[in-house]
This record gives sequence, C-alpha cells and structure tokens, in this order.
Amino acid sequence: MELVTEDNITDLAVQRWQTAHDPRTAELMTALVRHLHAFAREVRLTEAEWITAIQWLNRTGQISNEKREEFILASDVLGLSMLVVQMNHRLDPAATPATVLGPFHIPGSPELGYGGDMSDGLAGVPLYVHGQIRDLSGAPVPDARFDVWQADDEGLYESQHPEIDEARLRGIYRSRGDGTYCVRTIAPKGYTIPMDGPVGEIMSRTDISHFRPAHVHFKFDVPGYEPLITHLFQEGAEYLDSDVVFGTKQELVVRFDAREPGETPDGGISDVPWVEARYDFVLQPQV
Ligand code: BEZ
Ligand code: FE
Repeated sequence: MELVTEDNITDLAVQRWQTAHDPRTAELMTALVRHLHAFAREVRLTEAEWITAIQWLNRTGQISNEKREEFILASDVLGLSMLVVQMNHRLDPAATPATVLGPFHIPGSPELGYGGDMSDGLAGVPLYVHGQIRDLSGAPVPDARFDVWQADDEGLYESQHPEIDEARLRGIYRSRGDGTYCVRTIAPKGYTIPMDGPVGEIMSRTDISHFRPAHVHFKFDVPGYEPLITHLFQEGAEYLDSDVVFGTKQELVVRFDAREPGETPDGGISDVPWVEARYDFVLQPQV
C-alpha cells in the first residue's frame, strides 16, 4: 500500500479520478485536481483560508435561485465566462463577435413586429436600433428571429424587480424579407452588477470597478447559422474600458446619434428627441 504524503497526494488523487467512466469527465477531473493542488501549494493555503473559501462558496450557492445566478456572476468577474466564450466562438473576423450571456436573459419574450416597442411606456429616451442581418457573403438573412433585452434606467433587469410579473424591456424580433430589422426601446445606461451578495462582498475589498458600460443584449438562434449571443455598446459610454465582466469588444461599440423629433426608422413620428443606433449583424453560416 502506498501511504499518503504531501509529495504524492496529487498523483494519488489524479489516479483515482482517472477512473471516471467517461473519458472527458476523467480529463476534466484530473486536470481540476492538478490545478487545485498546484494553487494550494503555490499560495501555501492555510486551514483558515480554506474554510473561508468553503463558506464563501456556500453563501454563493445559498443566495442563488432561478432569478439570481451568483456562481455565473463569480465566473463573469473572474474573466472565466468571457474566456469560455472566446474559445468556443472563434468566428470569422467579418462576423459579429460574441460576448457574455449574463445572468438576466429570460426566455419566452413577447414577439414584436418591425419597430415594436419593448419599453412599453417606461421612462427613458426613445432608442431605435436598426440595420440589416446578413451572412458572410453580404446576402440578407430574412426572417432571422432574435431576442433583445436590457436594463431599465435604474440599471435593473426584470428579474431584479421581484414585484414585476410581466415582460419588461425584452422582446423577440425578426428580420424582414430583405434582412432589415428595427428595435424600439429606451437608451440604456451603465449599471453596477449586483453587489449585495458574496461576489460584491469580495469585490468591495479590491479597486475593481463594478460597472458595465451602457449596452443592449442580442441573442440569435437562426437555423443554418452559428448561434450568436452578443451586445451593442454605446460609443463614448463610461466604463467601456473597464467592463467588470470583460465583455466589451471594439466591433460591438456603435454610435448612438441624438435626433430631433420627427420621422423614425420604422416610418413613425416621434414627438420627442430620440436616439438612433445603426448596426448590421453578420451571422456565420454553420459548416
Ligand atoms: C449583463 O450584461 O446583463 C451582465 C453580464 C454579466 C454579469 C452581470 C450582468
Ligand atoms: Fe446587461
């Protein structure tokens, strides 16, 4: 029998986890053991630090529910979510790049027509986001269905308003026959990630900014094309270069142009000043 020592424990644990029935599980678990042990050795982890970390993980689980994903938030602020996105969506440089999903997407949003208003009378400056959905060859993608969602002018998403039980600042849109689309919403603002849980607790002991720059979320699942989860960010917005979840990409930064009252991109009339953002999404065909 081989007795356990500080020197051999990593090899022994790797051997045990190597027996996982599925080869990928064996690969994942043995790598996890190696890296966890290396981490503990590098920092010479104390017992007090070990139990502090266990209790933090415990609180992270306890605060999570179907509306709050504190572990995803932890992954986001550690840069892990964005690393996983980058590795798994190496799209053609001409395609619209992907970014993080974030914890606030709610499936099953109401279907809205061209220029349909997903802000439905909420306070804010009207924003029209419009353009074309194309493929890599420049051909229009008709009838492309996509989700759009964003925070309100207090920086809160629907799921952060427990009292609200109807769709708020989210909708499903489709491109028209020529690939054009038009979303009517309100201009987004930068906002803080939730800081009242274990993630906020540890972040508030650093100098890390806890803000995201103003953005609108988009999610495309169009048959025949790579799925695309992305955002559009307002050019010139605060926090573009310090996004707490590392989600900003230059290609996704667009001009938000102020417009006087008058005709809007959907052919309607706005009685108040509004904002226009033009963006053509480029989807990558599946191979
Ligand atoms: C978001 O953009 O909705 C988001 C992404 C990651 C963490 C928190 C919020
Ligand atoms: Fe967001």
